[in-house]
Amino acid sequence: KFMAEYSGTRVKERELSKQLGIARCIIVPGDSDLEEKVLESFGTIVSDVLATQLPDGENTIAVMGGTTMETVALNMQELETDKRHNLFVPARGGVGETINIQANSISGMMAEKSGGDFRVLYVPEQVSPETYEILLHEPTVQRVLNLISNSNCVIHSIGRALHMAKRRGMGSKELAMLTNEGAVAESFGYFFDEDGEVVYKIPRIGLQLKDLKHIPYVLAVAGGRSKAKAVEAYIKNAPKQTWLITDEGVANQILKEV
Ligand code: F6P
Repeated sequence: KFMAEYSGTRVKERELSKQLGIARCIIVPGDSDLEEKVLESFGTIVSDVLATQLPDGENTIAVMGGTTMETVALNMQELETDKRHNLFVPARGGVGETINIQANSISGMMAEKSGGDFRVLYVPEQVSPETYEILLHEPTVQRVLNLISNSNCVIHSIGRALHMAKRRGMGSKELAMLTNEGAVAESFGYFFDEDGEVVYKIPRIGLQLKDLKHIPYVLAVAGGRSKAKAVEAYIKNAPKQTWLITDEGVANQILKEV
């Protein structure tokens, strides 16, 4: 019975990656909206993917924040080998999240769990544009920005547009604008409509959406039926090399629309 279910999932994974037009999908049984253990298993899967896909030598892995990424980080496994060393960096400057789910914290946690290293991007969330400009020229900030722009792997999640806008404290005017523009998904501080087109962007330093295209290893991690629409919208226009790590909550919802 197990084998039958297993091969059924493999078929579904191939269907989903074909439909979404990306390199690969991995579908965890269950729905992370309903079961925490589904979310936790994303950590093991991300670790497996990194362990089997990343080349030997030095890897720089840029990571985003959020609650999914936090659970992935907490469940990350040892990844260092004699031949391979990983350095984790936050992908972008703060986008208004609370501290435990900020990219800086996630990259620190991933390094701790996997035995790698990490660097912090010292740019506070709320500073005046003048201060921000000055900070950008700080050598410690510049060094981390260089690492980010040379990263060979990115791990990020995908969220629902309005949910994320509210979580980041955007005002009612901005919320109305996002609704008008038909925003349904958010990732990296970019908001996307149903066709995966960018409709708004929170300006921040670090990794930009266009940079993703040139990064060989891109892992998008998002589950839960409530995120199905957001995942589908974002992935439509995502770089083709993206691997989506998701659950049946998302996959069944997307596949049944065909
Ligand atoms: O803010 C970082 C981020 O990874 C976003 O790119 C994404 O939309 C969001 O978090 C997902 O948050 P959560 O995992 O909490 O749903």
